[in-house]
Amino acid sequence: MADKIRVLLSEDEVNKRISEVAAQISRDYQGKEIHLICILKGGVFFTCELAKRLELPVTLDFMSVSSYGNDTKSSGVVRIVKDLDEPLAGKDVLIVEDIIDSGRTLSYLIEVLKQRGPESIRLCTLLDKPERRVKKQVTVDYTCFTIPDEFVVGYGLDYAQKYRNLPYIGVVEQ
Ligand code: IMP
Ligand code: MG
Repeated sequence: MADKIRVLLSEDEVNKRISEVAAQISRDYQGKEIHLICILKGGVFFTCELAKRLELPVTLDFMSVSSYGNDTKSSGVVRIVKDLDEPLAGKDVLIVEDIIDSGRTLSYLIEVLKQRGPESIRLCTLLDKPERRVKKQVTVDYTCFTIPDEFVVGYGLDYAQKYRNLPYIGVVEQ
């Protein structure tokens, strides 16, 4: 049977907010080139929509990571499933994520990527669930929406690999 999904953020709301954040990033990086790192798979829809709206020279790369063990018992060690194709030396890097939850994935990833000598490294997320943060030191530079502690799907986010293709953010009703 199909799950019931309640709309939390409509397609129009999401797209409007992405345009605002893209305008902010375009202002902040004026005169520079930006190297976007999309965190697969969840970040892919947001990365595309954001990249289309940036008024800057943009390059793109992709990375896929997974946590060891299950989420609740995660040690914070993250396995790189697919690494970047390009080096980061001298680049202004913007990591693009679907959601920051505990912050474990990103706190690990930022440390790893800093070792590769980028000129700068910042973090942009579609959603932030600050109530769930374990790694308090993770600084999110650009957030489209701060949401309550609910499990959301759509716009790249999945529930058992489903619903990534929904054009809005929804909550799966029990
Ligand atoms: P964390 O910040 O390391 O805890 O993990 C973030 C990752 O957990 C995200 O990239 C998502 O893949 C997943 N995640 C966290 N919260 C949700 C949610 O509400 N819906 C779908 N995936 C989620
Ligand atoms: Mg993810």
